[in-house]
Amino acid sequence: MKPENINEIVGSDRNHLWHHLVQHKPWQTTDPMVIVEGKGLRVKDHNGREYLDAVSGGVWTVNVGYGRESIANAVRDQILKMCYFANSAGNIPGAQFAEKLIDKMPGMSRVYYSNSGSEANEKGFKLVRQLAAMKNDGKKHKILYRDRDYHGTTITTLSAGGQAQRKDQYGPFTPGFVEVPHCLAYRDPRGEDPDYGVKAAKDIEEVILREDPDTVGAICLEPITAGGGVIVPPEGYWETVQEICSKYGVLIHIDEVVCGMGRTGKWFGYQHYGVKPDIVTMAKGVASGYAAISVMVTTEDLFSEFLAEPSDKLHYFRDISTFGGCAGGPAAALANMEIIEQENLLDNVNKMGDYLMDRLHELKDKYEIIGDVRGKGLFCGAELVKDRGTREPVDESVAAAVVADCLRQGVMIGRTNRSLPQYNNTLCLSPALICTRDDIDEIVSAIDVALGNLQQ
Ligand SMILES: Cc1ncc(COP(=O)(O)O)c(C=O)c1O
Repeated sequence: MKPENINEIVGSDRNHLWHHLVQHKPWQTTDPMVIVEGKGLRVKDHNGREYLDAVSGGVWTVNVGYGRESIANAVRDQILKMCYFANSAGNIPGAQFAEKLIDKMPGMSRVYYSNSGSEANEKGFKLVRQLAAMKNDGKKHKILYRDRDYHGTTITTLSAGGQAQRKDQYGPFTPGFVEVPHCLAYRDPRGEDPDYGVKAAKDIEEVILREDPDTVGAICLEPITAGGGVIVPPEGYWETVQEICSKYGVLIHIDEVVCGMGRTGKWFGYQHYGVKPDIVTMAKGVASGYAAISVMVTTEDLFSEFLAEPSDKLHYFRDISTFGGCAGGPAAALANMEIIEQENLLDNVNKMGDYLMDRLHELKDKYEIIGDVRGKGLFCGAELVKDRGTREPVDESVAAAVVADCLRQGVMIGRTNRSLPQYNNTLCLSPALICTRDDIDEIVSAIDVALGNLQQ
C-alpha cells in the first residue's frame, strides 16, 4: 500500500472508528495501530513494523496462524457456490464440520451454529431456561457461574460473568444467575491444602444447597479460566464438580470459547479432566478468526428433551441466529481443523507448552515480581506481585508497562485487562499453535528485558 494511502486509512480510523475496550482520548494526539498483514505468528502494522504476536490476534483466536491459503480458499469456494441460507435448512460444510467435530467429542451429539462466543453461551442459557419451563414449571431455572470467569459481553452473558469490572455500569442484569467462588489456589487461604481442589468444588455444593437444588438448572464454567487470570483448576476439582452436579441434577455447560480447538494440548480443555458435559460452547479458535463462527454442542439426551409432536407449538428450541446460516463459517472451521490434524499441532502445543512453562519458571526464579506462573499447553499466565510474601498484586500500570515494553521490542503479549478491580496484574501468553522454540525464546527474552527495565 502506498504511504499516502495508509495515512488516509489511519486518519479514517482515528476519525470514525470506535474500537473495542479502549479509551480513545490518547488517540487525539497519537495514531491508533492499524494491523495491515500477517503471516504465521507475525503481523505488520501501518508503519511496516513487524511484531511477533504472542496472543493469537490479541484474544486467543488465530490458533493456526496468519495467512493460511487453504482456509481462505475453502471460504472463497464455498461462498461463491452458496454463501448463505437460514440454518433452518442445512448446508454442506455445516453438516461436514458437525460430523468431524462430534468425532472429537465422545458423548456429545448435536451442533448448533451461531457467530460469537457470547451468542453461543446465550443459546446454552436459553436451553436451560426452556428445559426448566418444559419440565418443572420453570423452577430449575437458575444458572451458576464462577467468580473470575467470563462468558461474553451481552447483558445476559455479563449477568453470568465473574469479572466485576466488565460488569460495572452495565446493570441491572438478568435475574437467575448466581456466583460461586473461584478455584485459584494462589488467591485462596486454603490453596496449600492438598485437598484444595475438592474443597473449592464443595464451595459450589454449598451454593446449590443455599439456593435450593430444585431451583438450580446448570453451572457454566470455563475449563481453565482465561481472562480472569489463567486459572488451571486444582487437582480433584473437576471430578468433584461432576459428582456434585450429578447428585443435584445440575447440567454442566463448559465454555470452551478460549480453550477449545487445541489451545491447551487437547481438542478441548475439559478433556484433560474426564468430565462429561451436557453443553459445550466454542468460538474463537473454531475457525482461527478467518470467519465468524461459534458453536454450541449438546448431548443427544438434552436434544431429545426438545423432541415432541409438531402439534405442540412451543416444545422445540425456538431460537435463531441469522449469521448461524453463513456457510463460510463451517467451511473455514473444516479447513482449520484439517490444519490442526495434518500438522500434528496438538503434539506441538504439548511440547511447546512445556517449554514455555519451563522458560516462565526460569523468569520466576530470576524476578521476585513474578508471584505465580500458571498454564496448560500454549495458554500461560504470570501473575505479578509487589511482594512474594504478602502476594499483594502490582498496580495494573506495572503490568501495562511490561506489555508496552514488549511491544516496543516487537513482541505482543497480553494481560488481564479491566477484568477484576485489584487483579489486572497477570501477563497472558497464547501464541499460535504452530509456534517454535525460537518464537518462545523471543517472547521470553522480551519479557525478561521488560522486567529488567522495571528494576531500573
Ligand atoms: C471464555 C470466553 N467466553 C466467551 C467469550 C465471548 O466471546 P465473544 O467475544 O466472541 O462474544 C469470551 C471472549 O473473550 C471468552 O474469553
